[in-house]
Amino acid sequence: MGGLKAKLASRNANKARELERLLPGWQIDLLDADGYPPEDGETYYDNARAKAHFGRGLAPSETWVLGEDSGLEVAGLGGGPGVHSSRSAAGDEVGWLLRQLDGMEDDSRRARYVCELVALSPAGEELRGTGTLEGRIATQPSGTAGFGFDPIFIPQGEDQTVAQLGNEWKAGHSHRARAARALLESLANRRSPDDQGRRLRRAQRP
Ligand code: IMP
Repeated sequence: MGGLKAKLASRNANKARELERLLPGWQIDLLDADGYPPEDGETYYDNARAKAHFGRGLAPSETWVLGEDSGLEVAGLGGGPGVHSSRSAAGDEVGWLLRQLDGMEDDSRRARYVCELVALSPAGEELRGTGTLEGRIATQPSGTAGFGFDPIFIPQGEDQTVAQLGNEWKAGHSHRARAARALLESLANRRSPDDQGRRLRRAQRP
């Protein structure tokens, strides 16, 4: 399905750029807002959903709203920083994580990116998509594409970082690309709110 207008409830322009490429035909703008809710949910889904609902209250009624939450889970940090990634690393993702993993063996450097996307339709219907990308953390940064942890994240089956592999690679394989594909799939399988009402009424008939 193409031609949808959406507001991304985020301050991260990199995510808007990536998502516009991943959702063909969608026109995605950052929601221009202050006072985002704190990212204190227990799951990526909780946070993505809170951002989407916050955006739904502010975005024009005819546009869709996207909420996104993502993070990096590292074996040697017990799965952290995970859902707390943005707060833990605070603008120096690469330096922070390299310091945390200093001296740790290969097994501790296993990691995965997770992305959760929540879309709210103009009528408030919710759709979601989840994606992950497995890999490991390098001992030094390489490459310039992407953002955040990308200069030190080497995907499984590759010997370069995401920042070296580039934006084209990221658009095909990243956690966000996988979440976007899952979202498009649920959009394609979605029934209109009217269909849902009809099915519910049919199911409730004696
Ligand atoms: P949030 O989703 O805005 O809370 O931020 C998630 C955290 O994970 C930030 O620290 C990002 O830098 C990091 N992160 C999420 N997705 C990516 C990615 O695609 N590349 C690199 N870092 C990412």
